[in-house]
Amino acid sequence: MAEKSTADLDEEEARAELAHLAEQLSRANRAYHTEDAPEISDADYDRLKRRNAEIEARFPHLKRSDSPSDQVGAPVSDGFAKVRHVVRMMSLSNAFEDEDITDFDTSIRRYLGLGEGDPLSYTAEPKIDGLSLSLRYERGQLVQAATRGDGAEGENVTANARTIDDIPQSIPDAPDILEIRGEVYMSHADFAELNERQAAKGGKTFANPRNAAAGSLRQLDSSITKDRPLRFFAYSWGELSEPLADTQANAIARLAQMGFQTNPLTAVCDGPAEMLAQYRAIETQRATLGYDIDGVVYKVNDLALQGRLGFRSTTPRWAIAHKFPAELAWTRLEAIDIQVGRTGALSPVARLAPVTVGGVVVSNATLHNEDYIAGRDSSGSEIRGGKDIRVGDWVQVYRAGDVIPKVADVDLSQRPADAQPYSFPKACPECGSDAIREEGDAVRRCSGGLICPAQAVEKLKHFVSRAAFDIEGLGSRQVEQFYQDGWIAEPADIFTLKERYGQGLQQLKNREGWGEKSANNLFDAIDERRRIGLGRLIFALGIRHVGEQASNLLARHYGSWDAFETAMRDADAMEGTAWDDLLAIDGVGTVLATSLVSAMNQDAERASIDRLVAHLDVQEAERPSTDGSPVAGKTVVFTGTLEKMTRAEAKARAEALGAKVSGSVSSKTDIVVAGPGAGSKEKKARDLGLTILDEDGWLELIGG
Ligand code: IVH
Repeated sequence: MAEKSTADLDEEEARAELAHLAEQLSRANRAYHTEDAPEISDADYDRLKRRNAEIEARFPHLKRSDSPSDQVGAPVSDGFAKVRHVVRMMSLSNAFEDEDITDFDTSIRRYLGLGEGDPLSYTAEPKIDGLSLSLRYERGQLVQAATRGDGAEGENVTANARTIDDIPQSIPDAPDILEIRGEVYMSHADFAELNERQAAKGGKTFANPRNAAAGSLRQLDSSITKDRPLRFFAYSWGELSEPLADTQANAIARLAQMGFQTNPLTAVCDGPAEMLAQYRAIETQRATLGYDIDGVVYKVNDLALQGRLGFRSTTPRWAIAHKFPAELAWTRLEAIDIQVGRTGALSPVARLAPVTVGGVVVSNATLHNEDYIAGRDSSGSEIRGGKDIRVGDWVQVYRAGDVIPKVADVDLSQRPADAQPYSFPKACPECGSDAIREEGDAVRRCSGGLICPAQAVEKLKHFVSRAAFDIEGLGSRQVEQFYQDGWIAEPADIFTLKERYGQGLQQLKNREGWGEKSANNLFDAIDERRRIGLGRLIFALGIRHVGEQASNLLARHYGSWDAFETAMRDADAMEGTAWDDLLAIDGVGTVLATSLVSAMNQDAERASIDRLVAHLDVQEAERPSTDGSPVAGKTVVFTGTLEKMTRAEAKARAEALGAKVSGSVSSKTDIVVAGPGAGSKEKKARDLGLTILDEDGWLELIGG
């Protein structure tokens, strides 16, 4: 049996699964973006994200503050100057089945209040498998090119972008401010030639055209980029001083007139049936296009409607990516290795006889967890028809994109007679401590805590990672070295490194890879981080379930380290005022709260945190950015018929302005927006003496 349908989940199961998904996805993000060592395939990643979104859709109140749905892309890397995008660079939500496309159309119609018979057209175009780039033109001159980064801030790669033939340097008759967005990619032929050239001179070869394009665009030396055959398709825009057109299709035509390459397979479709026909047409041509695409993107054609539909936290409501199915191959499973992560999770990794899957040689794949190997899902139901996976088995490897793939299936007819069921270790392979699996957790964890070298080193890597302390010159590799040599055992040790090994810089600069300059730079970078924001500090502690967003919520709620740590101590009994106050934070659930309070009150862990904080000057948390909004922090209820927008639209706009939208009126309500036909809610609001506005009054309040 497959995993439980979301319709069958009860609240507790949903909460536990969301917690598990958040952890799996955050781990996958870190592996992919920060450690450049992806652990799961794109298709698996998409599947987990989809499952997460489905559960959140059914249980919106269980959505976590660190929900994977709110996270996009990679943090920026060192080396390039950072660029803040005036208009955020968004990601796309994904669809996999034909049915998802009809659902997409239905939900858009519902959001806009359109009937089934009302015309609604979309564009359909290939989803290019490259990396997105935003080009800024001022008075027709290219002034800046930036990668997406985390969506809010990317890398300034202007010098490199100027070397790409498809990117015009100047555009006659362009709007004064014009930001064009699109995809940088490499053709198959150019990719093959580049790899041949690289191999001939003993240089780095690339696994696929996307890696080659990314590696080539993100060269610090633009003369290297110039030698790399990069191309660019324009498909979107950011800041504009005047609109480009009235429809997506006309805007694309305008981009072509300006001198950009636009994709010739872009078509306008009058609804799901035509969209799916275009998907099949593009899929049929996929193999002969000469460049990689991984799906089809549909966008609402009417730009005024796009404006009304707006954005969720990281994706537009008016577009969706319909992905192609993943690629498969069969090979022999040679061994199963266990890796131990920061929170002690034991992750099984398949070592495979190398096999080519969609043009990439694969020799490692994820096996997820012990249930997965045994042929069960986390609720005990059968997967793969209950077939377990054994060393020696003939297994199916599944991948999409360039991340580490997964073992998806096993061919029992090829099983060697002496193959033994895999026995998942009950002790940590790194430190020998018991590996325990708690009820409701799919993952077995090492109980060694700080004594486990694998956990300690992973915790340190997390501590110095970009969203945490982000210490320049102290990355995963250096942390591993310092840990192995006994220089750093816990985060506090980083801040005494200079005292202990920096005297005269002799010891550090004598180490391989370190000179006087780099050693001094490192000590300076460490000193700079003694002053740290509360949110970053909480995140850096690496407490299970406490992601970046939850850390920021906690920081904003408690304001200072002292208030935070006192509250955590007071909440130790997991009841009483401090505990209730923690759970009252919108976005903090019991799983997160339990994990946080336990970690903060666990003696050894707490002592290590105290040793760290003694070296720091912890900054108070910033106020939320909706401060200027007239409705920030207010609770609003919409009732009756709204005539200028649908309920969903009204809710989304209110929330974007920092308001909380509630379905029922109480003394905690601040504003009731009542349209025609409002009944008992409006009456109750009157009885309670609350502010009641009609739709126009509300629009006036929020600025139209
Ligand atoms: S539109 C606000 N159109 O896919 C909408 N994106 O998975 C912005 N991509 O970040 C995206 N081909 O890098 C759009 N024809 C296309 C695309 C496309 C490739 C990439 C883009 C985006 C990613 C999301």
